[in-house]
Amino acid sequence: MHSILQCMDCGQHYPVDRMMYTCEHCGGLLDVQHDMDWLRKTVSREFFDKRLGSLDAPYNSGVWRYKEMVYPDVPDELIVSRPEGNTPLYSQPSLTAWAGVGKLYLKHEGENPTGSFKDRGMTGGVTHARALGIKRVACASTGNTSASLAAYAAFGGLNGIVFFQNKQIALGKLAQAIAYGAIGIQINADFDRNIQLVREVGEKFGIYILNSINPFRLEGQKSIMFEAMQQLRWKAPDWIVCPGGNLGNSSAFGKALYEMHALGLIDKLPSIAIIQAEGANPLYRSYESHFEHFEPVHAETVATAIKIGNPVNFKKAVRALRWTEGTVEQVDDQEIMDAKALIDRTGIGCEPASACSLAGVQKLVKQGVIKPHETVVGILTGHVLKDPEATIDYHNGKLEGIVANYPNRLYQSEPTIESLSRILEQAQSPVQ
Ligand code: F0G
Repeated sequence: MHSILQCMDCGQHYPVDRMMYTCEHCGGLLDVQHDMDWLRKTVSREFFDKRLGSLDAPYNSGVWRYKEMVYPDVPDELIVSRPEGNTPLYSQPSLTAWAGVGKLYLKHEGENPTGSFKDRGMTGGVTHARALGIKRVACASTGNTSASLAAYAAFGGLNGIVFFQNKQIALGKLAQAIAYGAIGIQINADFDRNIQLVREVGEKFGIYILNSINPFRLEGQKSIMFEAMQQLRWKAPDWIVCPGGNLGNSSAFGKALYEMHALGLIDKLPSIAIIQAEGANPLYRSYESHFEHFEPVHAETVATAIKIGNPVNFKKAVRALRWTEGTVEQVDDQEIMDAKALIDRTGIGCEPASACSLAGVQKLVKQGVIKPHETVVGILTGHVLKDPEATIDYHNGKLEGIVANYPNRLYQSEPTIESLSRILEQAQSPVQ
């Protein structure tokens, strides 16, 4: 066996064939820890480059291409892969200029099979569920995890169960979970309560929990960093910038970068910048006190994906920030929706939470934290179609408290050439 489960706080070990998320001794979060000596002898840049372009499963997946660093011992026939990953790294001059950096790449994780980065974690988690012989998997979700779980459970022949809050769930995400056949339950509670409930229900019924407290989810999500570094010819950028909600992604990024650096796959560690919505900013508040205090908050933001007040991966995210000398910033709903409108109008598009990355880069450049000559990789976490209501309401000026600074209004016309001509003579495309 090349991996164990290890408590991040007390170091206690457990075998990987256990259904557990926290340490039985101290309650700390668990990592999947791989045998680094074996990895050092096994993997290299060339080793992974040889698999690029493979047509065969599992290496045609942007997660399983790095199998040795994700879940080395799982038999290939148990892997549930769509295949995910292989997402583009966009470089769009107008967004780079707006952000104010030398080089800005946007890695679009919304271009995964179900439209978010969760697929990278879900292929890991659902595969582990199959390796454990478990038939039922569940999560609480602000939307994307539920869509991904529903799809991967169905695809892998498992039963999926998803808990939502009963308001503010983006339409695209809800539709996906129902369409893919999961048991969907709307609960009169917010995400933070639902995650407690799903853990209790999981324990009571022996259902495997696939929220990002599950360490195999995070192993899959590490591949966002592996793939980005490989796309950059293994030349690490100065910064990785991503939104922060439950803090699974940023935790996975820290672990991935730490491991890649330790194995010599990259020569330097990029710094991670985690961007929170101002109305859901417990990590930012804690960062301001140098992580001496942590207080959950009541979360409210237009970016419903990250409407989270008590992130389960807080400690792992702090570890990632310490490893990479990272930083935390917050952006308000106005900044989020304006940055989204700018990303959308380049033809790339994303959901509101994803736009934290671009808004955050600009803010950190203005503050002098990110230097104008530096290279930044921003993560776009979800697809533009996930939250059509937020997009349409923004452009119609119907989002409460938010001004559409980059509007694209919808015209109404009579079915006549005269009416159409009048519109076309005065209408201007917002595209720069
Ligand atoms: N962006 C999107 C589009 C998300 O869906 C999420 C999380 C995040 C960012 C934040 O990532 O939790 O790893 O810090 N969505 C979860 C869900 C919570 O239930 O779909 P994180």
